[in-house]
Amino acid sequence: MDAVEHDGVAALTSHVPHVTASALVLAIAGSREPAPLSRLCGSGFRDTTRVASGDAGMWRDIVETNAAPVAAGLRETAQRLTEFAEQIEGQDFDAVEQGLAAAARLRNRLLSTSNRMKDSMSGSKVIAIDGPSASGKSTVSKGVAAAREALYVDSGSLYRGMTWKVLEAGADPEDEPAVVDVLENAEWTFRVEDGAVRFAIDGTDPGEAIRGEAVRENVSYVARIPAVREAIVAHLRAMKSLGDLVVEGRDIGSVVFPDSPWKFYLDADPVERARRRNAELVQTEAESSVEQVMDSLKRRDHLDSTRKTAPLLVPVGSTLIDSTYMTLPQVIERVLELVEG
Ligand code: CDP
Ligand code: CDP
Repeated sequence: MDAVEHDGVAALTSHVPHVTASALVLAIAGSREPAPLSRLCGSGFRDTTRVASGDAGMWRDIVETNAAPVAAGLRETAQRLTEFAEQIEGQDFDAVEQGLAAAARLRNRLLSTSNRMKDSMSGSKVIAIDGPSASGKSTVSKGVAAAREALYVDSGSLYRGMTWKVLEAGADPEDEPAVVDVLENAEWTFRVEDGAVRFAIDGTDPGEAIRGEAVRENVSYVARIPAVREAIVAHLRAMKSLGDLVVEGRDIGSVVFPDSPWKFYLDADPVERARRRNAELVQTEAESSVEQVMDSLKRRDHLDSTRKTAPLLVPVGSTLIDSTYMTLPQVIERVLELVEG
């Protein structure tokens, strides 16, 4: 399939249904009292509009990058709706029945012949990759996402982003009420860029600022606050509406996506992890040393493993990969082998 054809098909099978579901919610509930509606809202409403709960900012980006095919598909949908409305107004219920029967046949045929459609009926797939710092999660997850054409999600960057915001606001990262106050006033937006989901808080993408020492040394304090975790877990779960994901973090297989069939826990010897991370840090922090990095990793590993909410642990049903003596391509290959069977 070439790129133009792919955009056209993605518009029809994903983007047009998404906007249509939102239009349906607006049409039904946009200008009515919610109470009588919610008493009668059953599974029909829920199933038909499920995707409309997705993240608006992310979907704006998707629609913006595929605007012409999406607009064309929406006009076709509107035309079909007009036809149904005219048949109903004209009492032509035979035509209505024929339309409904044709749709049922087409839908059943699409579902029974397309594996991809079957997959998407059970929701998009998530590969969860957890583990301690510098075990190789980011690099391995990016490689797996590229090979699977899935979106890469760095959940740690959201905890780092929240910490950056707390420091920007002049709040103390160990002062839970102060952090919760910053959290409640922060507006997150998400977008897809270069195969990854990226975020901005109050309109600003903090970029590399989240990798600096201030954020690094405070993130585990902010990340142990239950309200912070609850908000970030909700953001991560919402990303599933964007398609297949490879999500890396500390609690992805245990808390965020426990039903994922593919859960991995990457580990490596602490000295090897400190050596790897130091090799990266000396590029920007000349005074960094393996000993210093080792202390910082130990402190964070300890805080992450002992906190009450969603501690770092090997999730039930996950495959443990010790990468101490493995190269990155070997680890990526191992994950792909297990996922692809
Ligand atoms: O890159 P590195 O592995 O050092 O850390 P990260 O993935 O960027 O995560 C930074 C911090 O965020 C971790 O030390 C945890 O405190 C927190 N975190 C978490 O609590 N839960 C996650 N799913 C991801 C990160
Ligand atoms: O995301 P996480 O903190 O778990 O680790 P990472 O940033 O993916 O990996 C830390 C560093 O170790 C990166 O520079 C990787 O290239 C390197 N690495 C390695 O050399 N061999 C491995 N098997 C895994 C990671």
